[in-house]
Amino acid sequence: MATREATWAYRDDHHERFARTYFRAFGNCVVSSVGIGTYLGDPTDEADEGYRDAVGRAVASGVNVVDTAINYRNQRSERVVGDALAAADVDREAILVATKGGFVPFDGERPADPGRYVREEYVETGLVDRDELVHGQHCIAPDYIDDQLDRSLDNLGLDTVDLYYVHNPETQLESKSRGEVYDQLEATFTRLEKRAAAGDIRHYGVATWEAFRVPSDHDAYLSLPEIVARARAASDAAGTAATHLRAIQLPFNVFMADAFTVTAHDGAEGPQSALWFANDAGLDVFTSASLMQGQLTEEMPGDVEARLDGDTRAQRALNFARSAPGVTSSLVGMGSPEHVAENVDAGTFEPLGAGAFDAVFE
Ligand SMILES: NC(=O)c1ccc[n+]([C@@H]2O[C@H](COP(=O)([O-])OP(=O)(O)OC[C@H]3O[C@@H](n4cnc5c(N)ncnc54)[C@H](OP(=O)(O)O)[C@@H]3O)[C@@H](O)[C@H]2O)c1
Repeated sequence: MATREATWAYRDDHHERFARTYFRAFGNCVVSSVGIGTYLGDPTDEADEGYRDAVGRAVASGVNVVDTAINYRNQRSERVVGDALAAADVDREAILVATKGGFVPFDGERPADPGRYVREEYVETGLVDRDELVHGQHCIAPDYIDDQLDRSLDNLGLDTVDLYYVHNPETQLESKSRGEVYDQLEATFTRLEKRAAAGDIRHYGVATWEAFRVPSDHDAYLSLPEIVARARAASDAAGTAATHLRAIQLPFNVFMADAFTVTAHDGAEGPQSALWFANDAGLDVFTSASLMQGQLTEEMPGDVEARLDGDTRAQRALNFARSAPGVTSSLVGMGSPEHVAENVDAGTFEPLGAGAFDAVFE
């Protein structure tokens, strides 16, 4: 488990090379504002090798946030993260390891008959109730998430996951009412509170693609204040002293800035953007797709790029995401080890200050 002492020691070893706000608070820990993601790429041994090398280089050079999910590359990403962390000459307690559960994962490779695999592995074994499976591939019911967390701990070779996300819960809205999805989240949060009390996870969160950045009348919308209220109720039900809900993850980049521009979450003084609501509620924000899945390295609006520091376009794009209010860390997928040094070096430049960031949108 990441600890205050080890993450601060990690920061002390690396911070002189970076600009002032590169390391940021996460609970009582301190983490890098560039994190490594492991989503894209083929489920092959060759891609495993690339990620293994990239994760090793990242944690050796000032990145102590590693993000994965059980379904990424058919569980290969989690397994490679586990291998890379075990092999790294870095204290495991210095690293924030985050993973996610929700999408039913395949095991190493895509089966010839995916429907049959899910039926035999999950439905007929009683792990997933057919009514709780959306699109034949997504479930966030408590018993299922419990089982997925066990598998993730096993894949990662860890005793504790530092941050466990419920993955894209908005997928459930395709076959359930919003009220039913909130009820299910509360039940699953209650289970995660218990897993936190047992030491299997340190914190939990909600990772989304659309839910928090779309307007409130959008089909995929979920309300952050409601999520926070449900987490508090879950903590009461589980008997934990305070909720372990700690973070959200959502896409944010130069082309997808709606988490900052769309005010869809009711705060104390009226509607707020997801980023400002999270900031005021004390939730850490991790940005996904910080390079728009690589597209920003090819094109970026010139007027925005001109305001950003960095030697390369990837660095400038990452520095945009790192500049947004309330962002703790911007995740960037790096299956190619040669991208690591360039992306980590984004942190040697100052992000935009609050005034300069707001001015981008004027
Ligand atoms: N809903 C969710 O929960 C969700 C959704 C999406 C992503 N995520 C998380 O967020 C992480 C980041 O998002 P992402 O991976 O989708 O997209 P991303 O970080 O915006 O882009 C990753 C892509 O950019 C390429 N790249 C990285 N650095 C580069 C550089 N310096 N120059 C040129 N190309 C570069 C990568 O190539 P290589 O791989 O070849 O290095 C990869 O193809 C994911 O890995 C995942 O952990 C979560």
